[in-house]
Amino acid sequence: MSERKYILGIETSCDETAAAVVADGREVISNVIYTQIPTHTLYGGVVPEIASREHVLKINQVIKKAVEDAKITWEEISAIAVTYGPGLVGPLLIGVSTAKALAYAKGIPLVGVNHIEGHICANYLAGDITPPYMCLVASGGHSHIVRVDDYTKYTIIGRTHDDAAGEAFDKVARAIGLGYPGGPKVDKLAREGNPSAIDFPRASVGDSKYDFSFSGIKSAVLNYLNGAEMKGLEVNKADVAASFQQAVIDVLADHTIQAALDYGMKTVALAGGVAANSLLRTTMKERAEAKGLKFHCPELIYCTDNGAMIAAAGYHEFIAGRRADLYLNAIPNLKIGER
Ligand code: KG4
Ligand code: ZN
Repeated sequence: MSERKYILGIETSCDETAAAVVADGREVISNVIYTQIPTHTLYGGVVPEIASREHVLKINQVIKKAVEDAKITWEEISAIAVTYGPGLVGPLLIGVSTAKALAYAKGIPLVGVNHIEGHICANYLAGDITPPYMCLVASGGHSHIVRVDDYTKYTIIGRTHDDAAGEAFDKVARAIGLGYPGGPKVDKLAREGNPSAIDFPRASVGDSKYDFSFSGIKSAVLNYLNGAEMKGLEVNKADVAASFQQAVIDVLADHTIQAALDYGMKTVALAGGVAANSLLRTTMKERAEAKGLKFHCPELIYCTDNGAMIAAAGYHEFIAGRRADLYLNAIPNLKIGER
């Protein structure tokens, strides 16, 4: 047997300062996440300058703890993997600069990782799944249906034409007074509501069977709330949350499963922060299995931003021979599959 490869993954693209050590792209040895959510909650969303400052304050401690918890020496680390895009430029630069400094000082190879591909690779963390498969990636900034052809090869099959799914959750949560981040709060409140109470639109987009549009659903919710207010009617917030969530999930699940069937895939998977949604997880599983497809999703802790998913993606890039040099820069609008 060849020696195990330990990868240190570093993630700072948005509001989590995270680092982890993963062995052979699958086994999480340590996982440290410092979330800035309580800070940004005060402002109702992520404030980029504040995020950058918090990353600067925390990154060294987070990385140090990840290596200590892993009980390995720096010499045992095969590569440092860091998110270099997409994301907020200031936060990304802090992770990239730190990773470059460490790689240089310790003489360890450096690998740049695409954050979205990292979300997809969260599926490999203690997960029995191998490419090819069809993956729905839904986060605060992105909603894509991606055909995962191989560990480092991705083809986009569907995308959103406007808002990301997580963004729609966050905006609707704000409108019904739940605060930031909206996804988990809508998820929780929806359990007390009736998903058929209000018939929000399941929007399709043009000719594409696989694309999404969430701004229509979001506007329908806002119109419903305004209409009720004007008529002096009391709104059942749990019903609004449940009906909105059902509308979004119907579209996400049906498009992904249709894409898997049309492209001859045998497995569908979930990734990204919205993959933490309890109804999305059960709905995808039920509907996929009803069509004879296998279903996979990462553990909850690996759905939202973390360093382990970056280490997992970095491992596959590393063994494919990809290396970054000290000119690695942050690319805020980096696309899936771009090299
Ligand atoms: O992947 P992530 O941590 O950060 C980005 O890369 O954007 O995703 C964050 C997004 C937020 O929009 C958040 O509201 C959403 O994921 N989210 C959820 C749930 N947990 C997080 N959306 C729906 N249900 C959840 N349980
Ligand atoms: Zn993310």
